Amino acid sequence: MKLSFTVNGTEHTLDLDSRVTLLDALRDHLGLSGSKKGCDHGQCGACTVIAGGRRINACLSLAVMHDGDEITTVEGLAGPELSALQQAFIKHDGFQCGYCTPGQICSAVAMLREVSDGWPSHVSDSLTGPVRLSREELAERMSGNLCRCSCYPGINAAILETAEAE
Ligand code: FES
Repeated sequence: MKLSFTVNGTEHTLDLDSRVTLLDALRDHLGLSGSKKGCDHGQCGACTVIAGGRRINACLSLAVMHDGDEITTVEGLAGPELSALQQAFIKHDGFQCGYCTPGQICSAVAMLREVSDGWPSHVSDSLTGPVRLSREELAERMSGNLCRCSCYPGINAAILETAEAE
């Protein structure tokens, strides 16, 4: 099947088997290897990309479902410089092996937008910053992104610092 979508601001047209996942289309057909294949079953979050403004597991989504969509991968988040969240991950040492990092960052970027747009939340009273996010809510909202190296203290510090600055 033919499909066209915009990835990181560039329009692409692909002719794919209808069973190809969005993750495989990005990695194998467009050469965007930033999004990682961890479990391939929707359990780890390493493949998280932003589609139409929402974070999704690209391993669970067929490419043909995204005809006409705007997709952002980790490669599309940085401009001439790394984004604030990417810089915060480096500052707070939010990774060890780095395999989950692209998914963590894409997920966190969309999650901060969800919070600032007022998506359903169960906020507690220990809130900080313009993007109001408690540690408990952060853990819940990022629970779909696993880090086998257990770098959660650094990951959480990076996200909270970015939330406070937004
Ligand atoms: Fe998609 Fe693990 S590779 S959730």
